[in-house]
Amino acid sequence: MLPVAVVISGRGSNMEAIVRAAQNPGSGYRVVRVIADRETAGGLARAAALGVSTSVVPAKQFADRASFDAALAAELESSGARLIALAGFMRILSAEFVQKFAGRLLNIHPSLLPLYKGLDTHARAIAAGDSHHGASVHYVTAELDGGPVIMQGRLRLRAGDTPETVSARVHALEHIIYPHVCSLIATGRVECRDTSVYFDGEPLPAPLIEENDAAA
Ligand code: GRF
Repeated sequence: MLPVAVVISGRGSNMEAIVRAAQNPGSGYRVVRVIADRETAGGLARAAALGVSTSVVPAKQFADRASFDAALAAELESSGARLIALAGFMRILSAEFVQKFAGRLLNIHPSLLPLYKGLDTHARAIAAGDSHHGASVHYVTAELDGGPVIMQGRLRLRAGDTPETVSARVHALEHIIYPHVCSLIATGRVECRDTSVYFDGEPLPAPLIEENDAAA
């Protein structure tokens, strides 16, 4: 079973989906640690309720990014994790940190990357009049939200959508695609070579797509 650590800053609904899916036979992975960068992360209590070991690396107590990143790296190494899933983690990691965990570090971003890197993705997609929107699971590289995309959840934007209505549907898709990607990696079907995604031993020409217009 591939040991996975999940790193959070907030409520941790993606973390919960990853933990719950690990209980399915055949998932291929288990969650060994949930780490937050702040005591107030709501996901810490959720993780504890699910029986997962938790820890906090309190960002506020570190003088600079380098010292925080070093402490987070040490915590991840002590957890024994071989795959790290950033899930609503609200800090930018240094190039050194990313290099250390290259090919083993995932993130989920609420847009169809490369569209809408950064914040306020739902409002930006609505304002642009896009027909579709969604979320992307990608390997993390030093470029913010710029690493190779493994899988996207796509949904159709509806007349009258607001950032809140879209957020709910995007989250529902995220909870499908993030555990799915963890399993694809754990079972050896997806891997990162250099900075490219390979699927079943072949370069992946475009992200895997999960369509779900019925998502709540
Ligand atoms: C998700 O929308 C994810 O795409 C973004 O942050 C949000 C985290 O939500 N990176 P949660 O904490 O997993 O509920």
